[in-house]
Amino acid sequence: MKAVTAREPTLPAQLERRSASGRPPALLSSDLPTTEALLVSGGDARIAFTAERQANRYGCRALPDPQLVALGSSTASVISEAGFAAADRLRQRILMAAQSESWSDVYATELQRVRRELSELCGVAELPGVEVVFAASGTDLHLVAAQLTGSNDAASTLAISADASETGSSVPAALAGRHFSTRAAFCERLNEGALLRSDRGIDVASIALRSDDARPRPTSLVDDEIVALVDRAAVAGRRVLLIVVDVSKTGLLAPSLACVAALRRRFPDQLDVLIDACQFRIAPATLRAYLEHGCMIAITGSKFVTGPAFSGALFIPRAMSLRLRARPLPSGLRDYCSRADWPQAWAAGQGLPCVDNFGLLLRWEAALQELRALRAVPDSQIAQFLESFAAAIRERLRRDDAFEPLEVPALERSGLLDLPSWDRTQTIFPFLLRRAAPGIGHSYLDREQTTRIYRQLQEAQVAPEPDVQTAAMRCQLGQPVACGRRAGVAVSALRLCASARMVVEATRDSSAGSRLIARALRALDKAAWLVRSGL
Ligand SMILES: Cc1ncc(COP(=O)(O)O)c(C=O)c1O
Repeated sequence: MKAVTAREPTLPAQLERRSASGRPPALLSSDLPTTEALLVSGGDARIAFTAERQANRYGCRALPDPQLVALGSSTASVISEAGFAAADRLRQRILMAAQSESWSDVYATELQRVRRELSELCGVAELPGVEVVFAASGTDLHLVAAQLTGSNDAASTLAISADASETGSSVPAALAGRHFSTRAAFCERLNEGALLRSDRGIDVASIALRSDDARPRPTSLVDDEIVALVDRAAVAGRRVLLIVVDVSKTGLLAPSLACVAALRRRFPDQLDVLIDACQFRIAPATLRAYLEHGCMIAITGSKFVTGPAFSGALFIPRAMSLRLRARPLPSGLRDYCSRADWPQAWAAGQGLPCVDNFGLLLRWEAALQELRALRAVPDSQIAQFLESFAAAIRERLRRDDAFEPLEVPALERSGLLDLPSWDRTQTIFPFLLRRAAPGIGHSYLDREQTTRIYRQLQEAQVAPEPDVQTAAMRCQLGQPVACGRRAGVAVSALRLCASARMVVEATRDSSAGSRLIARALRALDKAAWLVRSGL
């Protein structure tokens, strides 16, 4: 396997050569970019590597990095060795199959296999009429869902979503039908911020889930704001796409499911509901229940599941599938989707080019490897590990002055699913950083200082404190999230996260769980030391 070098300029050329020539007469391994090059192709600008770090902007390399203490699954994870091997095997199969089929046919066949297996692993394969659309990221899925359901009447559709700081910074632009990056899966150069070619006008309303002081806003306030927006839109005869986040970047679920159910009863013909489960911190029973309640659901393979960044899948329930399957897509989506990303026979796919996105396919293949392993762990063991992890992290964050944990209310899904389930346990632990300050107790680190600590955590430090091994640990936490102000300082929260890969590792032997928890606590030791030493 070649080392990852500045591959960016060569990749488009390689891909172009393939599509221009269709099927080369005799395929060599060099006719397809390497696995590590494919893994960082076929997405928006966030997927690209910075040459100097040999990693994407989240610090993830294209090759496995077993020494990295990975606790940042709310943002992104480095591919695992098993995930990389699965992607590499698939690349070999693609090369073999392409000896006798076109690249786009191979892509369609393999993606259909992934679609089937993903549905099975999510426990929805037997649910009649559920369809799956693939896209390059969670943000792409928001674009796709809004364009699919948006009205082309004169009255624009209203999309209501949680504030971007709790979802993705480009989610509002995607919902509004704007190019949210300088490139997309099938276009190297886009005018970021410009409206894509579409006859569907969509306005976006963003709802804050946390107050200015970073505390969660009361559920009733969030619900009331949403009800007022939906009421007003309905009176004006507009369609509404309500996005329910389960869970957000800092672990919140909003609006309340009781509010959503009441709105659906009142406006059955005007309201579509999209569950933003892009963190994919939900169990199959919860995913299934959302579909049974008629909601679309967006997941990614690249957060809790720990597949490589980026990969998205949108599950569409039967009733919506029946309504939408004959609906063509605006031509602007040709930059984002290929025909095989859509269910066969859907009008949406018919208008799209038959092109391949082997990068997306390989990323999903790696994610399936992680998901398969997670599904092999009994639910009771998943719950047991996640609860022990949560208890240890909460306690550590609470008793150290260098940290202030952000409040994350218990997840309330009653009415949807009343059974106990591992997905009710907190798995994202957001916290602010602070330093002792004479006279006032402590002062908060601002956003810039927090980002510096986030980066320093990823680097091996040579220092005797807190001890040589801890200082040398390379630890990845979730990217800092802007969280309002504290004591006049604009702050952001770091996030320490549990992930599917950790669950699987924790159940390998009787002491693996304790070792993993101890490692996460040491990452916090390092963070506290960095805060105190003011490096
Ligand atoms: C709740 C939520 N929704 C949507 C997104 C956007 O997903 P992606 O980063 O795959 O575009 C994120 C990203 O962190 C997220 O946390």
